[in-house]
Amino acid sequence: MSYNTITTTPISGALGAEITGVSLVDHLSDGVIAEIRQALLDHLVIFFRDQQLTPPQQIAFAKRFGPLEEHDFVKGLPDHPEIIRVVREADEDSLNFGGAWHTDVTHQECPALGSVLYSIDVPPHGGDTLFANQYLAYETLSPGMQRMLDGMTAIHTAEGPFGPNGRAATNWKNMQIETSEKALEEMEHPVVRTHPETGRKALFVNKTFTVRFKDVTALESAPLLDYLFHHASHEQFTCRFRWTKGAAAFWDNRSVLHYALNDYSGHRREMHRVAISGDRPV
Ligand SMILES: [Fe+2]
Repeated sequence: MSYNTITTTPISGALGAEITGVSLVDHLSDGVIAEIRQALLDHLVIFFRDQQLTPPQQIAFAKRFGPLEEHDFVKGLPDHPEIIRVVREADEDSLNFGGAWHTDVTHQECPALGSVLYSIDVPPHGGDTLFANQYLAYETLSPGMQRMLDGMTAIHTAEGPFGPNGRAATNWKNMQIETSEKALEEMEHPVVRTHPETGRKALFVNKTFTVRFKDVTALESAPLLDYLFHHASHEQFTCRFRWTKGAAAFWDNRSVLHYALNDYSGHRREMHRVAISGDRPV
């Protein structure tokens, strides 16, 4: 794919590209925004380095791709509720927020189209984010498995991270998170979703929110779900982004999984995240 303004440099064979030729601080023309959107569809996750984004500028950029949404359980910045602060202090020895393969907020009826994550403070080493291409995850399954999964529905809840006994109860102490009974609410999504813009099929289950298949117990679901979680993050489907201060990652939440690596003990890491509203998976 060629572009007029931006330049894309892939970072792996499976997905992910660094974009140069734009400053996200500027008010970009509709033509440049269309190129960035195309790059997102082509590469699934795109990265911009050396940006100097204030919270209003991050919001303004993300809003060019759709309305933003507030997180159900994580409180946003006081003046900018659309931005959540993903932070782990140097003296914290806990799980990472986002430290498992997942798609954002699939407990919602309409999970985010995508997220824009911007680095405020990065550790001197570690703290990379992994991404995995879920078109490839689907396409590499056998035809028989694809046919079976095509007709299946999965149940998603936010109980694991945000339920009364969820991981937020004992982790992420420097983030403003409220655990709640509301996290027990169940949402149905197809196991395989068709991307609304590319028309391609992608595997759409994740370890953080998918708890079982519809009309099947958690125990009965576990062997196949475990297989799919394992398959979905095969290294051939992944890329790995090394953060630098002032970098932004914009991923297509409809076609990738991501994973925040927990390998920077003793160092601080802070990110600002916004999520762009998505549509109901079909
Ligand atoms: Fe995430």
